[in-house]
Amino acid sequence: MSAAPLGIVSALPDELAALLALVDKPTSATVAGRALYRGHLHGREVVLTLCGIGKVAAALTTTLLIERMGVRGLLFTGVAGGLGAQVRVGDVVVARTLLQHDMDASPLFPRHQIPDLGLEELPTDGALRAALRAAAQEVVRRPPAAVEAFGLQAPAVHEGLVVSGDRFVSSSAESTALAARLPHALAVEMEGAAMAQVCAAYALPCAVLRTISDRADDQAHVDFPRFLAEVASPMSREIVGLALQRL
Ligand code: ADE
Repeated sequence: MSAAPLGIVSALPDELAALLALVDKPTSATVAGRALYRGHLHGREVVLTLCGIGKVAAALTTTLLIERMGVRGLLFTGVAGGLGAQVRVGDVVVARTLLQHDMDASPLFPRHQIPDLGLEELPTDGALRAALRAAAQEVVRRPPAAVEAFGLQAPAVHEGLVVSGDRFVSSSAESTALAARLPHALAVEMEGAAMAQVCAAYALPCAVLRTISDRADDQAHVDFPRFLAEVASPMSREIVGLALQRL
């Protein structure tokens, strides 16, 4: 019997394609509009899929992978907006904890608390996180050539709080307010904390890796599709590949 697979959820088609290209003869099934690809990646049993955008898409995708594919844990890879002052475009963030910044059932429960769990910050798994961090540190030592072409500084790796919500944050006013409300937040995205909530309910390990694509402010981004194709996707593929070899 084969081992339970690790679920790898990509936020973007480019990232999924980069990982899928490394899987030898994947089998696929489509459930609830999601193609789930099963196979071996660097010798590990995996199921790869695309998430869709937002917390509901992430919760649905995570539940499908757990219930239909019997995954033993989940790893999310995507891009995020930098919130922490030290977090720059091109950097890599590994979530230590995740919080839903748009969850607010106050005054019944404290702001940001997930009432089901009695927690504001949802944990990630120490072993998955350590493998991702070590892999990321190795990859940023020899980043894709496009990092320089985009005029970005040498990427750094950060670990800490990542916040999720059903909004693409694209104004300085909003990102400043979010950073003031959650001063420890390193990055903002739209899925990770929802995946973490489902994993907590099933007592399964999860981890989230994000490449910083923007500063969540009103500055027009460098060429976003090119950034995804030439920086974020290759970094994600390298980091996830190396991390799998370390697990
Ligand atoms: N993903 C990438 N950049 C983001 C942003 N600024 N807000 C939310 N999700 C993101």
